[in-house]
Amino acid sequence: MTWTASLPVSEADAMRLADALGDDDRFAAHTVDATEVAPARWRLTVYFPDEPTRPERAALEALAAATLGRKKAAIAFAPLRETDWVAKSLEGLAPVRVGRFLVHGRHDRAIVRGNDLSIEIEAAQAFGTGHHGTTAGCLAAIDRVAKTRRIRRALDVGTGSAVLAIAIAMRLKTPVLASDIDPLAIRIAAGNARLNGAAPWLRTVCAAGVDRREFAVPGGFDLVVANILAGPLVALAPALRRRLAPAGTLILSGLLEHQRNRVAAAYRAQALRLVRSDIREGWVTLTLARARSA
Ligand SMILES: C[S@@+](CC[C@H](N)C(=O)[O-])C[C@H]1O[C@@H](n2cnc3c(N)ncnc32)[C@H](O)[C@@H]1O
Repeated sequence: MTWTASLPVSEADAMRLADALGDDDRFAAHTVDATEVAPARWRLTVYFPDEPTRPERAALEALAAATLGRKKAAIAFAPLRETDWVAKSLEGLAPVRVGRFLVHGRHDRAIVRGNDLSIEIEAAQAFGTGHHGTTAGCLAAIDRVAKTRRIRRALDVGTGSAVLAIAIAMRLKTPVLASDIDPLAIRIAAGNARLNGAAPWLRTVCAAGVDRREFAVPGGFDLVVANILAGPLVALAPALRRRLAPAGTLILSGLLEHQRNRVAAAYRAQALRLVRSDIREGWVTLTLARARSA
């Protein structure tokens, strides 16, 4: 059973600690999440695949205290509650337009125009109503890639509400594998895929990272999207590169400006070329390409 370790922090401390965790071999592979729970109040959460042992707890507490310059870091350890992503979904209910996509709630069905690719998402217990700078950045990148590339198969890692997977399915009429570490997100993703008529294109899988055999498709994925935080993105660089087809496109988001170089360097080391970098509300979205012959 997944356990969480969380502590209240400022935004700067959340980012500092997320960086330190990403640089520490003991925690680099753990999922780390920074959430603004109220204006200027953040919570940093580390996910453990099982109940953390006493030494693991002590190591995390020592790392947090040293990174934040505190005598002691008051970390709360608890089994994962199903409602943990709720706060992330309450991002706002106004419709969001990005490229040809219109992401909206049920109450805004009437504003959909003939040419829109409309994605109906209710604020629920999975991240991704389109409002966050990371989601909007990925939608814009998907819209751009759709204009120039032929995509036969796509992968959405950390699908949350499945907003990006649905966008890919609608825009590109292509099969999408949508994965998430959180079983509740996977249930919500499948429901949203049905609601939006995208279910025939979507397959969901509950997994941390992309190591399971479901991800090992012959030839790889022509498009991979991953909107998760900088630490996990750095840790996942070799695995995501393996899942990307030759000449494939990789879209990454969930990183802040000061983390861009570290993430870009991790993917450069995997021979992926940075094609462009966009910023929305301080959140960076990277578009990278794998060489045709690599
Ligand atoms: C920021 S949300 C992105 C949701 C949606 N794709 C979007 O763009 O709005 C990140 C999602 O990634 C999932 N996640 C975090 N770490 C993961 C990992 N290592 N493997 C798979 N999913 C992960 C979380 O459960 C969460 O649903």
